Amino acid sequence: MNTKITFLGKEFANSIVTASGILGVTGATMVNNVKEKGVGGVTMKSVSVEPREGHPNPTITTGEHFMINAVGLSNAGVENSVKEIKYYKENCQAPLIASVFAGDIKEFGEVTKKISEASPDFIEVNISCPNVEDEFGKPFAADPQLATAVTKIVKENTDIKVIVKLSPNVENIGKIAQAVEAAGADAICAVNTFNGTLIDVRTREFVLHNKFGGVSGPAIKPMAVKAVYDISQAVKIPIIGTGGVTTGQDVLEMMLAGATLVGVGSGVHFGGGKDVFKNMMGEIKEIMEEEGIEDLMEMIGGVKSDD
Ligand SMILES: Cc1cc2nc3c(=O)[nH]c(=O)nc-3n(C[C@H](O)[C@H](O)[C@H](O)COP(=O)(O)O)c2cc1C
Repeated sequence: MNTKITFLGKEFANSIVTASGILGVTGATMVNNVKEKGVGGVTMKSVSVEPREGHPNPTITTGEHFMINAVGLSNAGVENSVKEIKYYKENCQAPLIASVFAGDIKEFGEVTKKISEASPDFIEVNISCPNVEDEFGKPFAADPQLATAVTKIVKENTDIKVIVKLSPNVENIGKIAQAVEAAGADAICAVNTFNGTLIDVRTREFVLHNKFGGVSGPAIKPMAVKAVYDISQAVKIPIIGTGGVTTGQDVLEMMLAGATLVGVGSGVHFGGGKDVFKNMMGEIKEIMEEEGIEDLMEMIGGVKSDD
């Protein structure tokens, strides 16, 4: 039985990768996620050119089936990320996906150029952040033209393969996917968190200091799986399917919808803590055995459909 996955020419031991921002920011935790916990690859926390404080507390809370956060993309800046990547690469072979974001198009180019110095295996581009040059701070991910412009400038500033991470908070995610593919994206990651909020009934206050946040975890899985399917029908480039994955079965479901790799973030909280990845792989192998699946890559885009 083969659980190895080839994604953009690189081999992953399995199809599970950590999602950006949740499971460790330092090189050491990323190495641990591979060596002790068994993920096939890691995605780093998104970084900007300069360090950012993020939003005041409370920034994160959980419900029975979801997590909501407004951390505000706090990060230690790209210089620090370059150091963490170097440490990781000295200690671990599994593919590393760096993640960048910026407030304007030019800065997307700068942060990409800088992070490329550390030679991560891939660069993921988080375009869910607001465009500071837009009157209403519209996210880059919400507009095909802006998403195109970001993809182009990132590609101009690196020779490393580029994954564009899309937001689900759009009318037609397939259209955005087509725009970034045409602009040169090598792959797509979908999805980032869904817009949401929580109100405390007793105090009548918003729970998060920022009022609104991003919803993740099991509650978003059906929407995330549909987004991945819609993207797979719209483009030819590979997809990292992310959103609400907590079990091995969820991983396979994402793959059937069209994902080559599957990102897991909040799933660590909902899926049983530090053994979550090993449990997922155990379940995947069990299902493969029962269904007579020889090669995990057979699952990619394997959902039956008449149209
Ligand atoms: C606390 C927290 C921080 C996150 N930070 C980032 C980030 O820095 N960059 C990014 O692209 N996505 C970030 N995300 C989104 C996740 O990578 C993922 O797309 C989303 O949570 C859906 O997956 P999940 O349901 O498996 O958590 C963050 C999510 C959470 C909960």
